[in-house]
Amino acid sequence: MSLVLDQAHGAGWSVFNADCVTFAAGMPDASVDLAVFSPPFSNLYVYSESAADHGNCATDAEFFEHYRFLVRELYRITRPGRLCAIHVKDLVYYQNSSADGSAGLRAFSDGCTRVHIEEGFSFHCRITIHRDPVLERAKSNPHGLLWKTFQSDASFCRVGMPEYLMVYRRWTQPGEEGLVRPVLHPKAEVPLERWQDLAGPVWRTGEPNIAIPYGDPRMGGGSLTWNLQEPGRGDGDLPATDVLNVEVARDPDAERHLCPMPLNITRRAIDLWTNPGEVVFSPYTGIGSEGVAALGMGRKFIGTELHPTYFGQATRFLADAERDAAAGSLFDMLNAAG
Ligand SMILES: C[S@@+](CC[C@H](N)C(=O)[O-])C[C@H]1O[C@@H](n2cnc3c(N)ncnc32)[C@H](O)[C@@H]1O
Repeated sequence: MSLVLDQAHGAGWSVFNADCVTFAAGMPDASVDLAVFSPPFSNLYVYSESAADHGNCATDAEFFEHYRFLVRELYRITRPGRLCAIHVKDLVYYQNSSADGSAGLRAFSDGCTRVHIEEGFSFHCRITIHRDPVLERAKSNPHGLLWKTFQSDASFCRVGMPEYLMVYRRWTQPGEEGLVRPVLHPKAEVPLERWQDLAGPVWRTGEPNIAIPYGDPRMGGGSLTWNLQEPGRGDGDLPATDVLNVEVARDPDAERHLCPMPLNITRRAIDLWTNPGEVVFSPYTGIGSEGVAALGMGRKFIGTELHPTYFGQATRFLADAERDAAAGSLFDMLNAAG
């Protein structure tokens, strides 16, 4: 049974202050068109004291044991033929934290893939989100990224750590064909360049808002504004700063962190893998980034979040996003009429 401590709704969204596993167990089959989210990285951040908090796990094995129950429900509630996209990175063993005391990395993203496959999904693709190694070095000073390590013994050198969008597919099973709904990108609305941009295996774009002409202007064509990739542009990263303001939901207790999912990555996933009006689900809603992206793009959103402070902030961001989206479409209508 799902224990919902609080809930909030708008015209196109609902968020529940609840444990994602028990809540998802009550959701109808095939009710989600895209699940997109950042799981709490095991052993990295502690979000709350709750035993149900998947960030409260001492080891990766313990995290995956809990996460598996969510993935099992995700498989059931995802529309046949649709996807689940998770934003993750691999993790660092800080000194003496690995079983044999050595430093190094652990392939957390591969662990996620293993669980998703074991629970019925298939591996669809991995998108690498480029992150600047110089910034990583400045932030955490890892031995493997030091210039002096490169000079003294480069056998310890590693490359910087990217983020990933790991994407899993729920294939249609016999008898489910009637539930399949293709995701459409009509040629007249989306230019080839946009598709080529989204199809890149490494996303490293800024948001320069480049207008790309499409169609014949005499026949009603025009230009669409996309945030195209800009390889080789300085740090070359999707701005890691394109996130909701987490400070407004800062828990005064120490040791609490929330790492919001970048809006630019989320929007690209929603754009690629959903139709307008469809349902986007984030089991780990946090302060609401996936929902804000979804509502801003004319999709519906359902979320669950365990931490009451984050839940409260998510409801405010979602209400704002829905109001902004409504104001935007009214403006578009007036422009079209005028
Ligand atoms: C990586 S953060 C998600 C951030 C979110 N994508 C955003 O942009 O705000 C992970 C979130 O999962 C929540 N969480 C952890 N265990 C949970 C559970 N069992 N059910 C629901 N939420 C949970 C944490 O409180 C935290 O807010």
